[in-house]
Amino acid sequence: MIKIQKYKDKRWRCYHYSVIDENVIKSSLCVFKECNDIKKSIFISDVRTIENYRNKGYAKYLLKNVIKRFKGKYDSIYLGIKPSDDCPLKMEQLIDFYKKVGFTVYKNKFGKFIGVIS
Ligand SMILES: CC(C)(COP(=O)(O)OP(=O)(O)OC[C@H]1O[C@@H](n2cnc3c(N)ncnc32)[C@H](O)[C@@H]1OP(=O)(O)O)[C@@H](O)C(=O)NCCC(=O)NCCS
Repeated sequence: MIKIQKYKDKRWRCYHYSVIDENVIKSSLCVFKECNDIKKSIFISDVRTIENYRNKGYAKYLLKNVIKRFKGKYDSIYLGIKPSDDCPLKMEQLIDFYKKVGFTVYKNKFGKFIGVIS
C-alpha cells in the first residue's frame, strides 16, 4: 500500500514528505514554510527518489500530493530546478517533469531555473 509520511524536522525547521510503498521510503522532498506580513509561500527542496525506484511515478505522486495540500492556502509554491550529479534526467527533461505537475518555469536574473505555482 502506498502512503505519504510527514516528518517535522525541528533542527532545519522544515517538513519532510516521503512516499512509502511496501514499508520502504521510495521518494522524498522537503517543504519550508515562508511566512511574513505580506505573503505566505512554500519552498520545496531536495526532491529525490531512491535510485532503484526511479521512473516508476513516485516523485510525480509525491509532488502532486504535496501541491494539493498547499495550493490555495499559500500564495505560491516554488522550487529551484537543478539536476543532481546522479540525476538520470537532463535539465530539459526535469523542466518538463515539473511543468507536468503544474509548475510554471522561468529563468531568474541569476540564470537559474525556478518553478512556481501561484
Ligand atoms: C528527478 C527525480 C526526483 C524523478 O523521480 P522519479 O520518481 O524517477 O520520477 P517519476 O517516476 O515520478 O517520473 C516523472 C516523469 O519524469 C520522467 N522520467 C523519470 N525518469 C526518467 C528517465 N530516466 N528518463 C526520461 N524521463 C524520465 C517520467 O517519464 C515521468 O514523466 P511521465 O509521467 O510523463 O511518464 C529522480 O530522477 C531523482 O531522484 N533524481 C536525482 C535528484 C534530483 O536531481 N532531483 C531534482 C532536483 S530539482
